[in-house]
Amino acid sequence: MSQQYAQLKELDALHHLHPFTTHSSLRSGGARVIVRGEGPYIYDSEGARILDGMSGLWTTAVGYGREELAKAAYDQMLQLPFYNTFFRTTHPPVVELSRKLAELAPAPLNNVFYGSSGSESNDTAIRLIRHYWVLKGEPKRRIIISRKNGYHGSTIAAGSMGGMSHVHAHSYPVYEGFRHIMDPYWYGEGRDGESLEDFGVRAAQALEDEILAVGPENVAAFAAEPVEGAGGVKIAPSTYWPEIQRIVDKYGILLLADEVITGFGRLGTWFGSDYYGIRPDIITFAKAATSGYIPLSGNLVHDRIVDVLMAHNDDFNHGYTFSGHPVACAVALKNIEIMERERLVERVNEVTGPALAKMMAKFKDHPLVGEVRTVGMFGAIELVADKKTRRRFADPGRVGLICRNHFFQNGFIMRAVFDTMVTAPPLICTQEHFDEAEAVIRKSLDQTLDDVASEVAA
Ligand SMILES: Cc1ncc(COP(=O)(O)O)c(C=O)c1O
Repeated sequence: MSQQYAQLKELDALHHLHPFTTHSSLRSGGARVIVRGEGPYIYDSEGARILDGMSGLWTTAVGYGREELAKAAYDQMLQLPFYNTFFRTTHPPVVELSRKLAELAPAPLNNVFYGSSGSESNDTAIRLIRHYWVLKGEPKRRIIISRKNGYHGSTIAAGSMGGMSHVHAHSYPVYEGFRHIMDPYWYGEGRDGESLEDFGVRAAQALEDEILAVGPENVAAFAAEPVEGAGGVKIAPSTYWPEIQRIVDKYGILLLADEVITGFGRLGTWFGSDYYGIRPDIITFAKAATSGYIPLSGNLVHDRIVDVLMAHNDDFNHGYTFSGHPVACAVALKNIEIMERERLVERVNEVTGPALAKMMAKFKDHPLVGEVRTVGMFGAIELVADKKTRRRFADPGRVGLICRNHFFQNGFIMRAVFDTMVTAPPLICTQEHFDEAEAVIRKSLDQTLDDVASEVAA
């Protein structure tokens, strides 16, 4: 390692507080320094080339090193680097992007409110949902039901809407007005002999049970990710979303689809709501909207919510300095243009999704693997101590971490969600990349098996 990078690591440990990180481990070990990206690869300061099976953090759909995106940002910075959109002002990139998003979104989500992160935009959604019900004359409707293990961000409101106990456990109170139901995780929650389809209906009915428990007149919305990502790529059975939609319609509550990771093509449709036939009232998007080149997020909002806002002659007192940032909007427009030109969304259906599924299926028989699941360009591998009984390893997360380190070392990034290894590769991947990933996965699973052999059932 060069002197320059050794020093950089030291300074990082001294001054930089990383997100979701055990800081003491960084002080002792230091962070890996990523210096460059090209296509689906990143390069570290040691010169290692690593295939990025997590697309940055569910972001880099078009891959790294796209000059067109840099140029779009550069040109917009010279033209108009910033102006706010608060005081009856607008600018060309935000108007063009809003029109384009209305075209791509499920109808009739024709309206866009912008932010700079998924967390921020989920906060916007929460405020908008509650404001809507106040304007409708039903102010008691404040409760938002979401799911255990769902992830909606790290601000206090989005963290409260999320269902991760380790996030809730930190030193802030979970806001009132959020209730969490089970997530549709058949491998973990399915009963002996229960079919995937039956389980899907049961998991969805938890919503109706909760609505009845708190009183339908108090419920504002149901919020969920079409595919639960950070919670372990949990893919709902085919029966789940139709049943959820039926319940949402029956009680007249709003549906918030958090598409921060399913938006922009990962399921082979521009939005995951289209993939599952969900009819959301609000979609939250972020991440791949710009392929992560610059922060941009937003909410796509149903006409019927906006009609209610329009019918009242007062402000929605909410917004961010960087709502509709011109440079971010210009990059998003170019990113969408690239995705359309290269048919990256269609290719998830035709080529990349099936290739990922085929490659991942090869690991079903591995002694450490309890389940392999994929949908679109999402994949997950459950690591278990006993395949037959689905018995987990002691100390959840320990084996996942061992495995993740082997993956990184061998040149393919998969994230460990406790002992579930998850992947969401860039949409530009080709067969050659899936072949490369396959070799690394095999080697890393074998190495992990060697490390924990004494704990694995014969
Ligand atoms: C579904 C979902 N919602 C919200 C967020 C939060 O987004 P951000 O980290 O940009 O605030 C994430 C982040 O991974 C996410 O996966």
